[in-house]
Amino acid sequence: MTDKSEWQGQVGSSWARQWQRTDRSFAPLTAILLERISSFADTRRIADIGCGAGELSIELAAARPDTEVLGLDISPDLISAASARGSHHPNLRFAVADASTWSDLSSAPDLYVSRHGVMFFDDPVAAFSNLHGSAAPRASLVFSCFRSPSENAWASKIGALVPSAPAANPHAPGPFAFADSAHVAGILSAAGWGDIAFEPVDFDYVAGSGEDPISDALDFFGHIGPAARAIRMLEGDARKQFLDRLRMLAESHLQQDKVRFSAAAWIVTAKK
Ligand SMILES: C[S@@+](CC[C@H](N)C(=O)[O-])C[C@H]1O[C@@H](n2cnc3c(N)ncnc32)[C@H](O)[C@@H]1O
Repeated sequence: MTDKSEWQGQVGSSWARQWQRTDRSFAPLTAILLERISSFADTRRIADIGCGAGELSIELAAARPDTEVLGLDISPDLISAASARGSHHPNLRFAVADASTWSDLSSAPDLYVSRHGVMFFDDPVAAFSNLHGSAAPRASLVFSCFRSPSENAWASKIGALVPSAPAANPHAPGPFAFADSAHVAGILSAAGWGDIAFEPVDFDYVAGSGEDPISDALDFFGHIGPAARAIRMLEGDARKQFLDRLRMLAESHLQQDKVRFSAAAWIVTAKK
């Protein structure tokens, strides 16, 4: 579980410092997502929900100079990283805002997009209802989210290194809250969205590259995701044992000079 206060604080700060690596880990997914978004061509205003350090917003602003792009996120550190990266696009703006309450009816978006930014809402039906109410008539929604942990080796294999109780509620806010497509379809339709469709996509999650891919992956895992959480919680011998196992895991996933894991996502589309 990753809650709102963590994104507003320490987790958001880590992501803001690690955006080059998170963008790298999502790179093949980003290409697929941008390709799917390209079929929603006739746009005047796009809002990127949970935009993080802004890669998707920046790509869209560059590709559509006549469309206003707004990136929204609850993490002030991520919004300042995104603003610094995207400042040269006149049609791009970033704002600290919560998708559950944000609204600007004078410039209502006709397209919402998100790369993995919608699985952390405390009350997803309320958040998607707010987005529905804040959208232009006939607006569309295109977002990605992870499928199950068992289909995401980077998560299941790291999870197997630390003994922990299974999450009491698999739909609690977190990276896998939207793994179950029936659950997500229920949320979206309860929030007023229709024409809901799910496309499964698989991609290579690169955790380490460069001159020393193993150290690069260990540093990345030390800051982002389930390993970073385990490192914060463990102490003494348990911590050392975990770090040794993490290194062995990274070594066993070194292929063609990169530390790679299989990853699986949904691309979800819907219409107002
Ligand atoms: C997994 S990160 C993805 C970030 C970015 N889209 C990317 O692909 O790098 C999830 C993002 O959702 C944001 N987020 C979580 N809850 C939110 C909310 N209620 N409103 C807006 N953003 C939220 C977090 O701060 C975080 O930046």
